Amino acid sequence: MNIDYAEKIPNNVDLASDRTLQRALEQWQPNYIQWWHDMGPEGAQAFDIYLRTAVSVDPQGWAQFGYVKMPDYRWGIFLNPAEKDRKIHFGDHKGEDAWQDVPGEYRANLRRIIVTQGDTEPASVEQQRQLGLTCPSQYDLRNLFQVNVEEGRHLWAMVYLLHRYFGRDGREEAEALLERRSGQTDNPRILQAFNEPTPDWLSFFMFTYFTDRDGKFQLCALAESSFDPLARTTKFMLTEEAHHMFVGESGVSRVIQRTCQMMNELKTDDPAKLRAAGVIDLPTVQRYLNFHFSVTIDLFGADESSNAATFYGTGLKGRFEEGKRTDDHMLKSQSYGVLHVVGGQLVEKQVPMLKALNEVLRDDFIRDSIAGVGRWNKVIEKAGIPFRLKTPHKAFHRNIGSLAGVKVSPDGTVISDAAWEAKVDEWLPSASDRALVASLMGRVVEPGKFANWIAPPVMGINRQPIDFQYVRFN
Ligand SMILES: [Fe+2]
Ligand SMILES: [Fe+2]
Repeated sequence: MNIDYAEKIPNNVDLASDRTLQRALEQWQPNYIQWWHDMGPEGAQAFDIYLRTAVSVDPQGWAQFGYVKMPDYRWGIFLNPAEKDRKIHFGDHKGEDAWQDVPGEYRANLRRIIVTQGDTEPASVEQQRQLGLTCPSQYDLRNLFQVNVEEGRHLWAMVYLLHRYFGRDGREEAEALLERRSGQTDNPRILQAFNEPTPDWLSFFMFTYFTDRDGKFQLCALAESSFDPLARTTKFMLTEEAHHMFVGESGVSRVIQRTCQMMNELKTDDPAKLRAAGVIDLPTVQRYLNFHFSVTIDLFGADESSNAATFYGTGLKGRFEEGKRTDDHMLKSQSYGVLHVVGGQLVEKQVPMLKALNEVLRDDFIRDSIAGVGRWNKVIEKAGIPFRLKTPHKAFHRNIGSLAGVKVSPDGTVISDAAWEAKVDEWLPSASDRALVASLMGRVVEPGKFANWIAPPVMGINRQPIDFQYVRFN
């Protein structure tokens, strides 16, 4: 076969001279395209979309804009440039050379880490595949598709590692990544948050704010890995993740802005009146926030985990900003507080820090997500409205670890099942909240026009005007 690999699959891994990798990718790629047709954005395969494509890792090449049909998107393979003589900087191998290949004894664990990360990427595309049908504007539609193709590229990034470093079982895992389906009972995606539907755009914005931020923290922890190709791949993925979180943060912010505008216009905070006026009342926004926050913090795993200790001790997965921390990077004598319920109260218990590293990462994530919620509150404050959004207590609505199934209110009080039942519709989106939000979703595609429930953005994409033709429907 005579394929110009640099043209078809932009890469900086010298694909053109790696025959084994070429063969593996040639087998996998048609199945990927088939998956994209089956599970990618519905009814949008023929649109020309103003997308950015990464064609190299340098500043000119990583964000090239132009009209592309999504099935023709050039999904590339990029690693951040190698750091010369990189050393392992945490765990039992601290000080040794970083690994350029997979050490035999860590093969199974590394494969598992890569597969778990890789599985989330196509999962989110599947979760979001119907959203294009109800987009609030062309600008938003384009952002959705940008997120979707980049999640596709993140899958490529993980499949590259599987094909290049894991031989036959890597190839099998790469196929399985195209076979699992979000929300399917017999062959679901690996992590639960990636089996939840993303039924409407408020969910999408909350998802990209909270769940793509989980992605950021996982990728940051993997960017510390002693397995250098994994560290370099995830570093490049982080450049794309920033845009996904921007879509979420600005999306929710615009929803809030529009609601506040209507509250002031109608001089009311009555949800019924605001709903009748076609906007999403702030208590409903709060319930969506509660849901997505709690489901996302479960993704960090059990608060005490011997796997987490092993992954760190063996140098596979570091902490967020490992290099900036000033401890011994071994953590054998430190401890960390995790929550338990004792006699109907939440009590913090000190456990060995190595075992609590999921909790450490979860707490880093929580700090980071609270900052954006503060920015949303600024929008409400500026409108002169006394309402404030708040992230719920981290024990609220949890399904993993020692807090799984314990009933805790958003302010952190342990309550009875009956008290939970009586209040749950005030705390999590009820069927009627979801019906309301669904009823507001329409399809607005005229350039520069926005659905009634969301304010326009401050500026367009890549310095284009807001009423730019971001999508040609053909
Ligand atoms: Fe991703
Ligand atoms: Fe993402």
